[in-house]
Amino acid sequence: MNPVKVGICGLGTVGCGTVDVLRRNQAEISARAGCDIVISHIGARRDNPKVDTNGLQLSRDIFAVAEDPDIDILVELIGGTTVARELVLKAIAQGKHVVTANKALIAEHGNEIFAAASEKGVSVNFEAAVAGGIPIVKAIREGLAGNRIEWLAGIINGTGNFILTEMRDKGRAFDDVLKEAQQLGYAEADPRFDVEGIDAAHKLAILASLAFGIPLQFDKAYTEGISQISTDDVTYAEELGYRIKHLGLARRTEKGVELRVHPTLIPEKRLLANVNGVMNAVLVKGDAVGPTLYYGAGAGGEPTASAVVADIVDVARTLSAEPMHRVPHLAFQPDALNDTPVLPIGDVVSASYLRISALDKPGVFSKIATILSDADISIEALIQKEPQPGQNHVAVILLTSRCVESNIVDALVKIESLDSVDGKVVRIRVESLDG
Ligand code: HSE
Repeated sequence: MNPVKVGICGLGTVGCGTVDVLRRNQAEISARAGCDIVISHIGARRDNPKVDTNGLQLSRDIFAVAEDPDIDILVELIGGTTVARELVLKAIAQGKHVVTANKALIAEHGNEIFAAASEKGVSVNFEAAVAGGIPIVKAIREGLAGNRIEWLAGIINGTGNFILTEMRDKGRAFDDVLKEAQQLGYAEADPRFDVEGIDAAHKLAILASLAFGIPLQFDKAYTEGISQISTDDVTYAEELGYRIKHLGLARRTEKGVELRVHPTLIPEKRLLANVNGVMNAVLVKGDAVGPTLYYGAGAGGEPTASAVVADIVDVARTLSAEPMHRVPHLAFQPDALNDTPVLPIGDVVSASYLRISALDKPGVFSKIATILSDADISIEALIQKEPQPGQNHVAVILLTSRCVESNIVDALVKIESLDSVDGKVVRIRVESLDG
């Protein structure tokens, strides 16, 4: 078989890793693919001193790669959604297969991109877009194809998990850890995408489509970041037997699909609670298989390159297959996608951790308990510390039963309006993830 020619656009952390892995494991990769895979064109606005481009065609204009008649597969590693979208659509129009690590691009423009690719009979593979090196797209799309998937929950942003882990284990400051994540090449170009949960929501939207056969709907995902998490909450959560993780959750319910990213207390005995540092993990519950867990490096050059190269091999293997014999982009055949609605956050059901700053005097707790009980919310656990010398407010920590979001939100408005309660109540959702 003729060698498969690859054009790589973008020579950042992942581009550099992809070149390295393709070169280092060349013989093994060819043996797996059944043909040689050759990097023949690189498009990058500037050189990366870590990559030796000697002997390679190098273009400053990345669109030259999409137009290169020699290229079979264009690998998009430039990031962003504007130029990347144009580049990918151009490559598809030229009849090229595409491999991308760009979660924002797939989550926001995937429906359009896949339609264009199907029209042209080419593949767009995006394993590296979700959870770095973990083959979660392949697992859901192919390995779990016999299941009705009920829910999935994942730590799908390495930077955020690295920050939370360092804060908890070493008491380090948020900004200091974020800076290190940037130096290590984990963080997005705009790190707010990591800490505000946008990056995780991109990935979650993709996972939910693969799991439930719904079109990509990133705009309907509920997103809450980790910048408000305090070390007090980390400590109280531990006292209650929980860890705080920044979780992406997608769940099929009778009314629709829950799609949400937010800090979450999970029982410390769950494997997911023990996923630390830049590692990612995704727990998927299928009706036949039960819960399955996928774990690995969620960011970084070579781990992400591992997924990019696997996609290149996949495309190379199916180059001669008819499009109808390839795995559908979103796991289900395009005409079999369903219109199950994504639920607004007010309709989501979860338990809550509450931290209330309350005046230390008789009757205050009973007022709080009455408001919760009137809303049909029961108190499952409680911590209250003695007041510190010179302070008249104490922290009251509650774990509540599960209830619909709008119920607890209304109850919190009432609790916050009590004279004896100071400021806003801190609320973090709690998930047992017990299947
Ligand atoms: N910034 C992302 C993360 C990179 O930290 O997970 C991988 O998508």
